[in-house]
Amino acid sequence: MDAWPGKQMHSHNYHVPEPFLDQVVVIIGNSNSVVDISGDIARFAKEVHVSDRSLTDEPPRKQPGYDNMCLHSAIASTHKDGVVVFRDGCSIHVDVIIHCTGYKYHFPFLKTKNIVTVDDNRVGPLYKHIFPPFLAPSLAFIGIPWKVVPFPMFELQSKWVAGVLSGRIALPTKEEMLEDVKSWYLEVEAVGWPKRYTHNLSNILFEYDNWLAEQCEWRKLMYVATKKNKSAHPESYRDEWDDDHLILQAEEDFQNFL
Ligand SMILES: *[C@@H]1O[C@H](CO)[C@@H](O)[C@H](O)[C@H]1NC(C)=O
Ligand SMILES: *[C@@H]1O[C@H](CO)[C@@H](O)[C@H](O)[C@H]1NC(C)=O
Repeated sequence: MDAWPGKQMHSHNYHVPEPFLDQVVVIIGNSNSVVDISGDIARFAKEVHVSDRSLTDEPPRKQPGYDNMCLHSAIASTHKDGVVVFRDGCSIHVDVIIHCTGYKYHFPFLKTKNIVTVDDNRVGPLYKHIFPPFLAPSLAFIGIPWKVVPFPMFELQSKWVAGVLSGRIALPTKEEMLEDVKSWYLEVEAVGWPKRYTHNLSNILFEYDNWLAEQCEWRKLMYVATKKNKSAHPESYRDEWDDDHLILQAEEDFQNFL
């Protein structure tokens, strides 16, 4: 076995994934999954070749931090004898090809009588990528958007769903939710995206997260409740409230800073 520092250093932390031991691996794609998977595999594989289709005519280049990882352009052709030819002219005999080119939504366990469908990887209709307007709130999808920072987003989505289920947060009417979905579809169309990019929130990921966070936020709810009451009771100049549940939430939040 060839010894190289990464392998020596990390081998005790990892269970060696047998299929990759001393193999030549091609990984197609170049997003977050590739960064994770290629780094893990490189510790055990003989060579890792990452193929990024957005690179056209650049020559292959070694990936910093690895002796056995190389970044290539798109694949030009593959051959029965295991040879892969890249557009950069490199030709390599490979053992394994891994596609890191995305996920297909598939819910074989879910029978919704076509109220929720998957059409060219568009799951819908889903209000804010979560609630099907005609099955809300009893059905909700967590984790549909992609090109996002997933785990904080899952948490915010879950908090929003919990708020809706507990009755603390009210959803708009079915019609309003459907309108919102339709206007998102129009935006997707307007930029010329195919349906399968519907849940690509790359451009608005923080906007989306902030929107979710705002829905769950006691600060805003308190402000709104008080403001509403102020116009309903202009004669009362003192704050009076029945939002004790929000105060409890606020106290819990403050505990975190103590
Ligand atoms: C996703 O959205 C980003 C930002 O709008 C865009 O650059 C990208 O091409 C989209 N699609 C994919 C597959 O990344
Ligand atoms: C609104 O004001 C009334 C009387 O001033 C008070 O009894 C009630 O609790 C207030 N509600 C909220 C949400 O603050």
